[in-house]
Amino acid sequence: MSDTQLRLGVNIDHVATVRNARGGAYPDPLRAAKLAEEAGADGITAHLREDRRHISDADIEGLMAVLNVPLNFEMAATDEMQKIALRHKPHAVCIVPEKREERTTEGGLEVAREENRLAHFIAPLREAGCRVSIFIAADMKQIEAAHRIGAQVIELHTGAYCDAHAEGHVEERDRELEALREMSAYAHSLGLEVHAGHGLTYDTVQPVAAFPEVRELNIGHFLIGEAIFRGLTPAIREMRRLMDEARA
Ligand code: PXP
Repeated sequence: MSDTQLRLGVNIDHVATVRNARGGAYPDPLRAAKLAEEAGADGITAHLREDRRHISDADIEGLMAVLNVPLNFEMAATDEMQKIALRHKPHAVCIVPEKREERTTEGGLEVAREENRLAHFIAPLREAGCRVSIFIAADMKQIEAAHRIGAQVIELHTGAYCDAHAEGHVEERDRELEALREMSAYAHSLGLEVHAGHGLTYDTVQPVAAFPEVRELNIGHFLIGEAIFRGLTPAIREMRRLMDEARA
């Protein structure tokens, strides 16, 4: 893969959501991850939530054992999650907010207010060789704080853009997209690698995929839903096709 190609990380959390609705073993998120890998996913993303509402500890262990592509381990900035990440040493760790008070109004992590704590929190993860990403809103203050604490990557939260699109609020959608565009360029100019995700669909992916500074998109809920209708492999291949078309 070239340095400018856009990577697709497939988030398999909601395969586990469906499994957990019945408490059994099916559908198996590991099988979905292997299928996603074969369908062209450049990485697999899984969020081990504090309440374990979808992905379980055993899923993370299984993913580490079976994947041939990198695992992007999403987690809250808690001691428990740090221990788990340091035990598995996944390729990438993405720090996400789980509680209201950890979020900015746009839904990304409130880094600026917690700079010291987060700097200490991510240092051992970096030392263990994990690529550390911080999930934040397209907000200059948060980007600068993420840079100062030593994150290598920021993932820009595309939820507000996708929500505005879904609700037909065209001006707001365009404003959100412009903020994503400007902040991708700004973060890149600081030397940060830029990723984006949350709520992306076939209808919303292309404008974001076209930003040259964005290196990776992480997409889950829509793809798992679309898999019900067309199967996981075609659902992922169509997303990949749209991303490549936008990039070209
Ligand atoms: N990126 C991050 C940091 C996330 O937390 C999520 C949701 O778990 C996603 C991307 C994927 O969002 P979605 O499931 O809406 O595609």
